[in-house]
Amino acid sequence: MMERMLGRVLVVVPTYDERENLPLIVERIRAAVPEAHLLIADDASPDGTGEIADRLAAEDDHVHVLHRPGKQGLGAAYIAGFRWGLAEGYDVLVEMDADGSHQPEELPKLFQALSDGADLAIGSRWVPGGKVVNWPHSRELLSRGANIYSRVMLGVPVRDATAGFRAYRAATLEKVGLDDVESQGYCFQIDLTLRTVRHGLRVAEVPITFVERTAGASKMSRNVVAEALWRVTMWGVSGLPARFKRPR
Ligand code: GDD
Ligand code: MN
Repeated sequence: MMERMLGRVLVVVPTYDERENLPLIVERIRAAVPEAHLLIADDASPDGTGEIADRLAAEDDHVHVLHRPGKQGLGAAYIAGFRWGLAEGYDVLVEMDADGSHQPEELPKLFQALSDGADLAIGSRWVPGGKVVNWPHSRELLSRGANIYSRVMLGVPVRDATAGFRAYRAATLEKVGLDDVESQGYCFQIDLTLRTVRHGLRVAEVPITFVERTAGASKMSRNVVAEALWRVTMWGVSGLPARFKRPR
């Protein structure tokens, strides 16, 4: 119902070595939001995830696959997926992990926020009602730290700017533009949050429960953290004069 009001929905799922998780998440997405289409953006996973994706797409006309030549990062995979979705005329583009951390059953809450007028709906762990299940203490500290640093450096009024569970209106991505996005890794999330806010668009945070994966491994790495720290610092420093000049 809600999906019909919003138009055509594409759920983009980036994958790198997710052979155990992919069939399960596709099944859950198809059951939770049957009208939505799915695009698996696979970076030539060595474990054969791409072939599993092809099989799932052959069985179901709502499932599509974008094969990419090699591991180029989560942000690059989303940009390619979004470009594909915009060219195909989808009205809503969703970001979701393949490992079960983002629960497809919570997608209607994100769609509701868009229906209520948001230009970007973020599934947030760090607003009241948001939760994380089974994360090691170190990972929680990293996420909270990254969010505090982003908020202080960038002045973005979002509690979970690094969240990877979100729904964009196509118009939001078109206004914000993807052409000059350089973020390759997870800082893509902060990057697009910042761009959306700076364009004066409405961001809504919806509480979600993030469930740490039980199969496969996280692709979070030292490089991912370093890229985020570097870029957020650069954006913050280059944005400071504008903040101080803002008329009061
Ligand atoms: N195609 C592609 N290429 N997919 C990738 C790549 C890549 O280089 N790196 C990661 N992925 C996919 C994974 O296969 C998974 O489906 C999803 O992106 C998330 O990767 P994880 O490695 O499971 O991320 P995480 O659990 O550590 O991090 C989550 O939380 C972060 C914030 O704390 C994600 O939701 C991040 O987006 C988020 O920033
Ligand atoms: Mn994960």
